[in-house]
Amino acid sequence: MVATHPVEVQLSGNQYLSTRNGDLTISPNQELLPLTARVNHQDCLEIGGCDVTTLVQQFGSPLYILDEATLRTACQQYRDTFKQYYKGESQVLYASKAWNCLAVCAIVASEGLGIDVVSGGELYTALQAGVDANKIYLHGNNKSRQELVFAIESGCTIVVDNWYELKTLVELTTTDSPTRIMLRLTPGIECHTHEYIRTGHLDSKFGFDPNDLDQVFAYVSEQPSLKCLGVHAHIGSQIFERQPHRDLGAVMVQWLRDAKKYNLELTELNVGGGLGIKYTESDDPPSIEEWSKAICEVVQAACAAENLPLPKLLCEPGRSLIATACVTAYTIGSSKTIPDIRTYVTIDGGMSDNPRPITYQSVYRTVVANKMSAPLTETVTVAGKHCESGDILIKNAQLPKTEPGDVLVVMATGAYNYSMASNYNRLPRPAAVLVANGEANLILQRETYEDIIRQDCLPERLK
Ligand code: LLP
Repeated sequence: MVATHPVEVQLSGNQYLSTRNGDLTISPNQELLPLTARVNHQDCLEIGGCDVTTLVQQFGSPLYILDEATLRTACQQYRDTFKQYYKGESQVLYASKAWNCLAVCAIVASEGLGIDVVSGGELYTALQAGVDANKIYLHGNNKSRQELVFAIESGCTIVVDNWYELKTLVELTTTDSPTRIMLRLTPGIECHTHEYIRTGHLDSKFGFDPNDLDQVFAYVSEQPSLKCLGVHAHIGSQIFERQPHRDLGAVMVQWLRDAKKYNLELTELNVGGGLGIKYTESDDPPSIEEWSKAICEVVQAACAAENLPLPKLLCEPGRSLIATACVTAYTIGSSKTIPDIRTYVTIDGGMSDNPRPITYQSVYRTVVANKMSAPLTETVTVAGKHCESGDILIKNAQLPKTEPGDVLVVMATGAYNYSMASNYNRLPRPAAVLVANGEANLILQRETYEDIIRQDCLPERLK
């Protein structure tokens, strides 16, 4: 039995979140929980029609739980907004660094999206998932020769980052079948986000210096083995304002205009990703539709002003496509109360399955899946199980009274969690399940101890 109306779940003293019970009209990046989240009559959290505590019993803990409906909804909202507001051709790519695995690539591609990959490994995964190479774009500021050869042979488009790569590509490509490239430039646009995830300012390791633009265009225009489709830029991640991308769109149209001086007919413009998501109730990002519409409008207006034909418009969101679709379920174990200081409640994972708090001081919200309406009487620090004092998942979490065995759910873990997971302390990486309509399918197996030593070699003389 399931509650038929949205349930208010207490998040902290006066903060509540409403479950959406499958309302797919909402922009996922403005929510904390997946859109299918609801609370059943056992007072347990359900996602995709599956009881989270049952999933943990079935698939083990910790567990990434990916809601297919939320992921598909985000894909559709991006795709349909670009179709609706942009009069030219458009293509949304999924920045798969957020979470690259076979199932995610296959779902996203089935919604008509292309895929942005940043390494041979991500490219391999996307191809193995059946993604059409014509819709794959390879990024990276130091692609190896091996990766470049793989990309050329696969037929994907290469987003060229720097002179060294450009010249290497000229060596590796042949005029009889030119390789499609885009040029990544640093636009010199500042945005307000964590400095590690800011990329558009001039002092960035990514992309050509825009002061080299003329030289780059002149050089590329003389390479018959390269077919330059257009320009690319990405200014940063977890951005809540629309203005930086408006500025970016306008700057990039100028680049298209400048290319004409070199007889380069550039037909594609990729504004990158970066739309933020709600990790806590105080985060207030624009919706997917608002962000996409702003980009369509600015590019159209700038092209009209320059009298340029509309390029194929691309964007490549990662976080806002997948973060909210996933939660991580953990099992609570030990706890420690230091009188007058704090109580630590420890879960069975931590910085190895979610390195974002220790890396970026990211803040997450949590609920106890088997006590959804219990009053929040405790303020605790949720600690991971790693041998590192900094392995704290959530400071000052407001929880009901918990006990060992309770299932703690951390929200919005779909982006840059599994993809940045490690085996620190030789913890096997968790499993991931895809949930939809009451069914759960394994999409990533839990690692075993055999997996942990799979790459180890013990030289004969040490035996
Ligand atoms: N395109 C390029 C070229 C990128 O470098 C990125 C992200 C994206 C698209 C997607 O950006 P998004 O829509 O996800 O904001 N590990 C960090 C985030 C690093 C982002 C790297 N680049 C984190 O956990 O916050």
